[in-house]
Amino acid sequence: MSKQVRKAVFPAGGLGTRFLPATKVIPKEMLALVDKPLIQYGVEEAIDSGIEHIIIVTSRGKGAMEDHFDHSFELNAALERKGKHELLAVSRGVSSLAQISYVRQKEPLGLGHAVLCAKDLVGDEPFAVILPDDVIDAEVPCLKQMIGIFDERGCSVLATQTVEGPAISAYGVLIGSQDPDNERIYNCTGMVEKPKFEDAPSKQAIIGRYVLTPRIFELLEQTTPGAGGEIQLTDGIRALLKEEKVLGYTFEGKRFDAGDKLGMLQATVEFALERSDLGPPFRAYLKGLAL
Ligand code: G1P
Repeated sequence: MSKQVRKAVFPAGGLGTRFLPATKVIPKEMLALVDKPLIQYGVEEAIDSGIEHIIIVTSRGKGAMEDHFDHSFELNAALERKGKHELLAVSRGVSSLAQISYVRQKEPLGLGHAVLCAKDLVGDEPFAVILPDDVIDAEVPCLKQMIGIFDERGCSVLATQTVEGPAISAYGVLIGSQDPDNERIYNCTGMVEKPKFEDAPSKQAIIGRYVLTPRIFELLEQTTPGAGGEIQLTDGIRALLKEEKVLGYTFEGKRFDAGDKLGMLQATVEFALERSDLGPPFRAYLKGLAL
């Protein structure tokens, strides 16, 4: 078994109902955050973290993702003809980003089931999972930070952040305690998917980045539907915890839930302000609003 994390799985088979009507036809992973589709942020993060092979779990009606990462012959030819070399480089850059494989999730049975669909493409090695809705702005890519912890400790690592109040019930929530040697590490003893606020065992919410050992696949095969009637990744990881150590990791960086309308607006404002081309005029525009 390779001990290196070389592959990243992107569950992208969901219906995107939180973003209707925009996602009636367009996959939510293809919604633009400033000028790049959401999924491209995750793919770039994976590559910047040393991942060599991207596996996207898709479903019916999600072909736009495959086209996006493919060569665009007509577009490139047109840009070349018009001498638009910078845009041509952008288009070519997207299609040569990474080695990408696609696998279909035939039924929307849940996040755990989506990850299980990648079993054969991952094989017997540790791997990452990136939920493309969760966009993380960080100096060191979030996944790279997590792979560093995996390399050091040799066990599965889940990204986590503190969530205050009733919002916690939208997440997988960890049970455990802070590691004595590293305040960013949380030693898990249990976890629960989308608890009611009053039942939440802690404020440590799972965020959409995981580094997992391949044993998870066999456990997901045995996982029965849980919260929302879906096969939950959290339930599979809880089973893994009975056999192996699992750590929570408070990453350095800011996470946006771009699968949500308000989260997407917040991400749009902050990412646009950071851009050297758009930032200054956008800041001036915002300052001029009578808020
Ligand atoms: C999924 C996971 C949940 C996690 C969340 C992070 O939920 O099931 O454990 O906390 O992603 O974004 P979803 O947002 O897909 O309902």
